[in-house]
Amino acid sequence: MLILSPSILAADFSILGKQIREVERAGAQYLHIDVMDGNFVPSISFGMPVISSLRKVSDIIFDVHLMIVEPERYIEDFVKCGADIITFHLEATSDPKALIDRIHELGKKAGISIKPKTPMESILPYLDSLDMLLVMTVEPGFGGQPYIPESTERIRQARGYIDERGLLTDIQVDGGITVDNVHVVLEAGANVIVAGSALFRGDIEKNVKGMLETMEASR
Ligand code: DX5
Ligand code: ZN
Repeated sequence: MLILSPSILAADFSILGKQIREVERAGAQYLHIDVMDGNFVPSISFGMPVISSLRKVSDIIFDVHLMIVEPERYIEDFVKCGADIITFHLEATSDPKALIDRIHELGKKAGISIKPKTPMESILPYLDSLDMLLVMTVEPGFGGQPYIPESTERIRQARGYIDERGLLTDIQVDGGITVDNVHVVLEAGANVIVAGSALFRGDIEKNVKGMLETMEASR
């Protein structure tokens, strides 16, 4: 299934609830929520209180991307504040399998994110138990960066692994995705598209609808 997950990192935080209603109304299926700790990545974004507040105003699927060290310390907290999908970084934990199991025990979907320079093979031991693989298409940490062209081959490689094993794992891409390059990542095998600046700058509803139409047309 083709899914759009707008990243609120690029939103106007003073009117976040309103902007989320706009992306929902325009047809986005997920909401991408970037949590940054100033340690795994240089920047700090926001944490549980913001997510809990948003949970009260929206039923959309919360796709939480944890860019934090020792994600195992916080899984319960993120479930409590309303996460539906929890994606942690392969590079941030010593026992990814235990973390996937914990997320599943709590009844949520588990994702692993992999940075642009981490070999794709590193994901193989976990692929069978994962709901979603997030292939980062920029270095995590900031919105508004350009798409790294080498990512296309990495998405293709990930798609190859998943298809070879007959799995249904989603492939999410995150970073520098616009209406002009989304066809490239879809063709390579991604099916869950994250976009921040391409959607939240200007007319949000128009941007989201335009992106959804472009995605449909690139099928
Ligand atoms: C980057 C974040 C992304 C970011 C994408 O570390 O994980 O989700 O918000 O922003 P754009 O689409 O502007 O590259
Ligand atoms: Zn993200």
